[in-house]
Amino acid sequence: MEVTDLSHASEQVPEAGHTNNVTVARCPGRVNLIGDHTDYNNGVALPMAIDLYTEVTYDPISGSQVIEIYSDTQQGVAKVDIDIPLTSEAIREVEPPWSRAAAGIVALTRPFEGGRLSYSGNLPVGAGLSSSAAFEVGTALALGIEGDPTVVAEQCRHAGEVATGVPAGIMDQLTVLAARQGSALLIDFSTLLYKYIKLPESMEVVVVHSGQQRILAGSAYAARRAECEAAALHLGSLGEISYDVANALPDDTMRRRARHVVSECERVKRFARCMEKGDLRTAGQLMVESHRSLAGDFEVSTPVLDRLVDELTSLDGVYGARLTGAGFGGCVVAICDPGSIDISTFKNGAWVVKPSAGASIVQAPS
Ligand code: GLA
Repeated sequence: MEVTDLSHASEQVPEAGHTNNVTVARCPGRVNLIGDHTDYNNGVALPMAIDLYTEVTYDPISGSQVIEIYSDTQQGVAKVDIDIPLTSEAIREVEPPWSRAAAGIVALTRPFEGGRLSYSGNLPVGAGLSSSAAFEVGTALALGIEGDPTVVAEQCRHAGEVATGVPAGIMDQLTVLAARQGSALLIDFSTLLYKYIKLPESMEVVVVHSGQQRILAGSAYAARRAECEAAALHLGSLGEISYDVANALPDDTMRRRARHVVSECERVKRFARCMEKGDLRTAGQLMVESHRSLAGDFEVSTPVLDRLVDELTSLDGVYGARLTGAGFGGCVVAICDPGSIDISTFKNGAWVVKPSAGASIVQAPS
């Protein structure tokens, strides 16, 4: 992978036993502009990588059989054997729990020798900005994984699922690997093909944290996914059916879940066309419709998220806003004219984010 930025890489003086082989990978978070709960339904979405990131440093120690895992924001140090198997039984034993996703990637990449993995960065954890995917993908790159972004994304997604038990889709990993500066990705999850959609330069993207951590996200996410899979048994993948077929389902819950996925995919395609034409007004309306569908038919919003969407969309210069990611808390994303949202007024955290490039190695072994 291309070496893109060496400016911040500090001089590494190897200690005894350490080699001069430090690798630093930087992985952005992502915000999904539109298209939630569509990825595991073979639908479409339009996410972008953002300029908040996690940085992973891997410092191999020759002769060691153990990877030590440190973070500057989490307590404790994990010690993981380099030959740990990629099974939930083995990874469940790893302490502290925050390090299990890294242990999953150690199991995936099978490093040749032990060493030290450490994490830093400015991407908020648990906010719905894909800190988990950044953690997984950054670790995998630091440990030397290579390959087509769709293949690496699926490998990291699978390792993350084994490590955490959350049956997430592939959107986050694919976005943070394949993103390009200035663009969002229009991803078709039925084929895993994606296309870059250049975003209007006059558009500002703002992310506001609701203050609600996504505590129930794991189990509630799995429940939604199971409901969609149950509906798909009757109809086929929900991302590939028509609105009329979805709306004719006799079971009320399944009908509403299917209706969200079908209508959301339609909104994603229209939103992508709006970006190409610079039609921010229609794009904003589509975001608000998306939020209503996620809140009403898919039931993944909260009163706090709903109020935040109302508050943001009432501001001059704001075209639209919606919850982003899994829901159940986390963040709202808005599109607006530059400067329309004063991020300093949001006490739980708010960021003006730029469409950024995907993960890269920022320091390679010398
Ligand atoms: C989480 C998952 C993604 C996707 C979104 C909802 O971020 O990791 O795969 O399903 O929720 O769109």
